[in-house]
Amino acid sequence: MTEQAISRAPSRSCLAVVLAAGEGTRMKSDIPKVLHRVAGRTLVGHALSNVARAGADRIAVVVGPDRDDVAGEARSVFPGVDIFVQAERRGTAHAVLSARPALDAGGDDIIVAFADTPLVNPETFVKLRGALDGGAAVVVLAFEAQDPTGYGRLLMEGDAVTDIREHRDATEDERRITLCNGGIMALRGDVALRLLERVGNENAKGEYYLTDVVAIARGMQLAATVVIVPEDEVHGVNDRAQLAQAEQMMQARLRHSAMLAGTTLIAPETIFLSHDTAFGRDVVVEPHVVFGPAVRVGDGVVIHSFSHLEGATVAGGAAIGPYARLRPGANVGEKAKVGNFVEIKNADLGPGAKVNHLTYIGDATVGASANVGAGTVTCNYDGFGKYRTVIGEGAFIGSNSSLVAPVTIGKGGFTGSGSVITEDVPDDALAVGRARQVVKEGWARTFREKASAARKK
Ligand code: UD1
Ligand code: MG
Repeated sequence: MTEQAISRAPSRSCLAVVLAAGEGTRMKSDIPKVLHRVAGRTLVGHALSNVARAGADRIAVVVGPDRDDVAGEARSVFPGVDIFVQAERRGTAHAVLSARPALDAGGDDIIVAFADTPLVNPETFVKLRGALDGGAAVVVLAFEAQDPTGYGRLLMEGDAVTDIREHRDATEDERRITLCNGGIMALRGDVALRLLERVGNENAKGEYYLTDVVAIARGMQLAATVVIVPEDEVHGVNDRAQLAQAEQMMQARLRHSAMLAGTTLIAPETIFLSHDTAFGRDVVVEPHVVFGPAVRVGDGVVIHSFSHLEGATVAGGAAIGPYARLRPGANVGEKAKVGNFVEIKNADLGPGAKVNHLTYIGDATVGASANVGAGTVTCNYDGFGKYRTVIGEGAFIGSNSSLVAPVTIGKGGFTGSGSVITEDVPDDALAVGRARQVVKEGWARTFREKASAARKK
């Protein structure tokens, strides 16, 4: 597992079953719902991360038939994940039982999570597990619904849940209940299979409902309890509008935790973070900056407005933007400067290097303290291959130079402004690759006189 569990390794083992066999038709998409992204990570990726951080030591993912893409994504997030196929969509209990071999192998705690519900805090799963540890056989994650339509209603007796009634099966009275099932549940491992196997399908949908385990547990004299969370936490994604709401809530969380960890976000609501954006101390991010996945920013960095970063590392004290674009593999050294309308891709910028204006640096190494003038372009691509440009320490690249890769500018080397550099430049040399200037005295005046005389004719 790559994710860090939030609590100390619990003494109880835990299997998480993540249900991802839904069809997601309301997304109106060619890609499966759970592969849509929030804060740069797929919905199923979030679900897996959340249960792993809650200490799940084994994870089973239940996917629909021919969903190698979902299985592949799950494996890429957690290589140790077990994939099970639910051949037919016959309900949530049926889906859980599709992971039968994982359930047979057991575990003290079994968590059932939905792959389309990305905002559940890992701490919440830990609370569910705590309630199992406290003696409950079933723990339901519930919320007070603003509008309970469509949700399963919790029938309570004191603190105990006696049953869950799906909306379609509920009476008028039951439909007035606002305490609803968030869908996520925890089951005690030693009774989970017995509970699940007793679930029938005599209901309005003719499906095997996971929610029935509550009444079944009660019939077996086992306790079912509830953990209540704010509605936002169990927000499920079924369509693009709900996807956008999930994004908004996730962004609010990420911004908040970045600020509490010591990052200044001047206008947080205009800054978009990725699930894995990593900031050092005293970073300042000006308004309207977008972070794609895999960005690491060192201490004291300033990121000016309208910059876009993705797959980039920025070392301490560097300054980025405004209007800079750092693409994957951009590695900006300490106190380096990347200014406006500069794009950097797959390139290392040494400490103190300056690339301040209107420049493309791709597939390159720029030495410490080198100065790259305005309008410089590394010509790295010939339509077939990509080639590297190496700019030595302390080199000075004159404005509007085209560096045709593969090419090396030696340490302390100079290129004249407007040069097209096709051959290596030795250390401390000057290379000029442009036509020599020609001055023709009086030419312009003569030209104007002739031209206006011609017009008067
Ligand atoms: C479920 C709950 C309901 C709760 C609601 C919260 C049941 C019976 N009902 O209803 O009480 O209020 O969630 O959102 O559990 N899935 C499969 N295979 C299936 C069926 C579902 O993998 O055969 C997966 C879906 O992809 C989804 C999850 O299980 O991730 C929930 O299924 P869904 O159909 O959305 O259940 P709801 O009707 O919303
Ligand atoms: Mg649902």
